[in-house]
Amino acid sequence: MEKIFSGIQPSGTLTLGNYLGAIQQFVELQNDYDCFFCIVDEHAITVPQERLKLRQNIRSLAALYLASGIDPEKATLFIQSEVPAHTQLGWMLQSISYVGELERMTQYKDKSEGKDAVSSALLTYPSLMAADILLYNTNVVPVGDDQKQHLELTRNLAQRFNNRFNDIFTIPEIRIPKVGARIMSLQDPTKKMSKSDSNEKGYISMLDEPKKIEKKIKSAVTDSEGIVKFDKENKPGVSNLLTIYSSCTGESIETLEAKYKGKGYGDFKQGVADAVISVLKPIQDRYAALIDSEKLDDILDQGAEKASFTANKTVAKAKKAMGLGRVK
Ligand code: TYM
Repeated sequence: MEKIFSGIQPSGTLTLGNYLGAIQQFVELQNDYDCFFCIVDEHAITVPQERLKLRQNIRSLAALYLASGIDPEKATLFIQSEVPAHTQLGWMLQSISYVGELERMTQYKDKSEGKDAVSSALLTYPSLMAADILLYNTNVVPVGDDQKQHLELTRNLAQRFNNRFNDIFTIPEIRIPKVGARIMSLQDPTKKMSKSDSNEKGYISMLDEPKKIEKKIKSAVTDSEGIVKFDKENKPGVSNLLTIYSSCTGESIETLEAKYKGKGYGDFKQGVADAVISVLKPIQDRYAALIDSEKLDDILDQGAEKASFTANKTVAKAKKAMGLGRVK
């Protein structure tokens, strides 16, 4: 069976963008692939985190994965820092990563811009991300559009390692959803929806109450035309809402345009809000039952054990290929 790996940072409550760009496809893929889904807490500490908040976010993310439909019988769910192989291989890959190529990553540029204290881990983040993926002989990596550049670098590092040492890494393919790969901010639809947005009205958190979701969608920026039509260039706000609507219901953009022909944005926004609530409300209910349960800990314990089994084998191969340690 082909293998899938993907990860999400526990750096705040997940947004609708994370759900539609990532988790929604994970739930489908777990039926056809051997999947590893990770809570990448070591990536989160590349920027300052508050200790207790981080702990909370890690647990919350685990519960959200499960509440969204990740089935621990089918997929392996685990926390990155509980599988030391990630940082071990991450270090080895750092040794073949070039500072220049790391500095070219747009995520690094965005996150370091204007800051005078930037951690070295923020720069080497993509080498750790490559390790995450390569540890599991991953064939396919489902992600949103913003991770394309990191995936390209992962493929380059894998090839570089294979050529320089020994052919041990599978070269992974990226998988981006056709609709929903880049959900935009509700307040500035030219910017990606992000959990680190300082304006709370720009994003929908997966745990926002239905009333709040409705309010945020009703105040989403559109235009003064009053026509529900997909046109990313000239109508970014309406196009983003159409994407959200389509991703939540599975109805095509064309069907939705026809449905709202001759109707105003009021009706349309109500439709979008209802669609989002009907996806998120059941997830929120399951989340509430999971968050404090022992079952959640059991699943994460088993996940870490299963992930370590595969990951340790890859680390042993990589060490041997590079000449680290002793012959045993
Ligand atoms: P992160 O935590 O920022 O986001 C997790 C996933 O959500 C997707 N995503 C979006 N999709 C659509 N619209 C949006 N507005 C939106 N915002 C986020 C992301 O593309 C991602 O798929 N570097 C990664 C985490 C990571 C990882 C990995 C991913 C670490 N190791 C290995 C894949 C494989 C990140 O920061 O994602």
